[in-house]
Amino acid sequence: MEKIWWKEAVGYQIYPRSFMDSNGDGVGDLNGIREKLPYLKELGVDFIWINPVYESPNVDNGYDISHYQEILAEFGTMADFDQLLVEAHQLGIKVIMDLVINHTSDQHEWFTEAKKSKENPYRDYYIWRDGTDGKPPSDWQAIFGGSVWTYEETTDQYYFHAFAKEQPDLNWENHQLKQDVFAMISWWLDKGIDGFRIDAISHIKKDAFHLPADLENIAARYQNITGIGDYLKELKQVFDSYDIMTVGEASGVTAEEAEDWAGHDGYFDMIFEFEHIGLWKKQQDKQFDIRSFKQALSRWQYALDGKGWNALYMENHDVPRSVSVFGCDGEYREISAKALAMMYFFLQGTPFIYQGQELGMTNMKFSSIDQIDALDSKHIYQELLNQGKSEKEALTVISQTTRDNARTPMQWDASTYGGFSESEPWLVVNPNTQQINAAEQLEQPDSVLHFYQQLIRLRKESQALVYGHFEELLSEDEQLYVYLRSAEEEQILVLVNLSSESADYQLPKAIKQLDKEWQLLLSNLPKAASQLEMTGTLAPFEARAYRFKGK
Ligand code: NOJ
Repeated sequence: MEKIWWKEAVGYQIYPRSFMDSNGDGVGDLNGIREKLPYLKELGVDFIWINPVYESPNVDNGYDISHYQEILAEFGTMADFDQLLVEAHQLGIKVIMDLVINHTSDQHEWFTEAKKSKENPYRDYYIWRDGTDGKPPSDWQAIFGGSVWTYEETTDQYYFHAFAKEQPDLNWENHQLKQDVFAMISWWLDKGIDGFRIDAISHIKKDAFHLPADLENIAARYQNITGIGDYLKELKQVFDSYDIMTVGEASGVTAEEAEDWAGHDGYFDMIFEFEHIGLWKKQQDKQFDIRSFKQALSRWQYALDGKGWNALYMENHDVPRSVSVFGCDGEYREISAKALAMMYFFLQGTPFIYQGQELGMTNMKFSSIDQIDALDSKHIYQELLNQGKSEKEALTVISQTTRDNARTPMQWDASTYGGFSESEPWLVVNPNTQQINAAEQLEQPDSVLHFYQQLIRLRKESQALVYGHFEELLSEDEQLYVYLRSAEEEQILVLVNLSSESADYQLPKAIKQLDKEWQLLLSNLPKAASQLEMTGTLAPFEARAYRFKGK
């Protein structure tokens, strides 16, 4: 079997603004990341993915880039970046950058030029249309709310934006634009970075603009549109001349299309699918539906088993904390954080840990809308008020759903600002940093942090956990996620109770002949049976993995 570094690797996502502030201005920075490389090394990760650190007016925290080849001053300098790259590499940690090429900032020179006149050479780098009867060209809605069209007076036309109006979409039909984008990509790769996470890439092609909006899924007209593969193949050609990893952010891509996107010869090495996490979930959720969750994960596992590769994740900077959403942030916080960890980590694919997830960091209880930074959340808050909700009701919804839950500063220790900064951070620190923080967990042998460390170590030592096939067992069970990972000489059985009730299990007869030879590999409770039993009970959020060595 061909061994590939990014298949064996574990990634760690860094949201630089909230990771570590080295200069006391309340904003995390590149030198802060540098300071914490030894922590990441000890955790055992092989690469970091850093969210955008490029020059940006920060309307969408760096996802509105005004210069692709400059570092935002708040984060440091290009020299700081180069130093970070050197030091990370010295420690054997690779560096993946965020590539935002669906849109730029409205402050990018391409756009400030494009706005000037219809004849400007950069005009066609963006998407412009005439209005109809003084109204926007279509009724399509943007992901961050409002119309996708913004009127530009100078030339009396509208430009298109899938996200905020300050994030005009690039026109992928323009040859010169693509050449400029590809040159920028090569510039970064020639610097020696190890790959990209490619932002919002399923949006680069749009449907015919005169079509009416799709009310079910507002992004449907500009998400994973037929023909997008042509652009993605061109992009892949640029990546193909480097030994790098690519992970596309692919909202709207279904498991049926998985192979095109993340197959052996897919557009990317792997993609972040959105099915198990829920696409841009904005409203308060119903009860966590374990069956659908399992089905979504297993669908992607089967779709790519032997055919491609998955990116595995439970959190990122856009969604609330997994322990609060899928686990329990009360009495079962630690055990549920560990259960979720084992559940996704041992699937087939490259696991990504989002900063703080390894501590079981939770959602924040925001006490006022003034504590919220995310522009989409502010927009929804306003909409809720318009619908007649009280401020308190609206805040409750926002507090549970905002992506700022993931963006509160990293909890390094129990001090006032969580050891993240010496001055007041740009976003409020979760007061539970007093109980949940890295310093304390480094001292406790059974902490969530040490559990992650073990998961990483075990995965590295196991052929089955990296390359083994996936097979789900007890798929109808409404509490347990049970699956088998099988390589030639090793099998691993993972049993996870995803519910807060105890759960009985009875394993299928098919694996009975292997009874008694399965040894406990890892458990999140101290007293799990050391040998696999064919029937038994798992405590709330109990998770166990058993190993069978031999053919
Ligand atoms: C997806 C990113 O993860 C998110 O943070 C951002 O707001 C949008 N793309 C727009 O770039």
